[in-house]
Amino acid sequence: MKFKYLTKINSTNNYCKKNIDNLDDKTVVHTSNQTNGRGRFNRVWIDLGTENIFMSIVLKPSKDLKSVYSNLTQYTALKLAETFAKYNVESKIKWPNDILIKGKKISGILAETVIRNNELKGIIIGIGINLNANEKDFSNINKPVTALNLETKTKIDKEKFLNNFTNTFFKDYEIFLKKGFLYIKSEYENNVNFLGKEITIQNLNETITGIAEKITDDGAIVINGKEFFTGDIL
Ligand code: BTN
Repeated sequence: MKFKYLTKINSTNNYCKKNIDNLDDKTVVHTSNQTNGRGRFNRVWIDLGTENIFMSIVLKPSKDLKSVYSNLTQYTALKLAETFAKYNVESKIKWPNDILIKGKKISGILAETVIRNNELKGIIIGIGINLNANEKDFSNINKPVTALNLETKTKIDKEKFLNNFTNTFFKDYEIFLKKGFLYIKSEYENNVNFLGKEITIQNLNETITGIAEKITDDGAIVINGKEFFTGDIL
């Protein structure tokens, strides 16, 4: 693992995309000031100040392990939940990209790929984590959000958290690549907030409502007997 710190950047994901050829596998790029942070579906990821985390992990796994690429967001979400647990805070994964504490979002994941001439150059796992925020900073955000300092009622040491999380992430990463989603399945099931509940999933093709019956060995959610690999829970 390698760290690259940038004092200020438009988006750590954009930086990694642009510099993918010069960034090694397992490089963690992070910044204190992100001026144009992006979320999924071109949403904005607001910069809540220098004591929060804006980071991207560059991954260049071997092509033989292609089948597990699509589960990397799930793996990341689980490792975030595992890290929050170290601060005695229980979080839940809102499939596939959000981590919530008591229903409020604390972290979001934006996974992107860089493909050139049909060749995968790298996978970028962008992660925003509200570590130290002021409740009044949330006034521009139109959904329930929280930050770790508000949950623990103490200031969080950013460097320690970053080390905690990245160590947790890379501890199981190689095994996960080899074994795939099945390796984290039961732990993942214990950390999601939707199993057995009625949910609505939207993806490019359709919107479907039903009971989330189960998660398959590949990490898909099953609703009304149908498997969903991509989408958003509304
Ligand atoms: C989401 O909730 O939709 C995903 C948010 C991802 C935000 C992070 S912050 C670091 C990285 N750089 C970006 O521009 N976005 C991700």
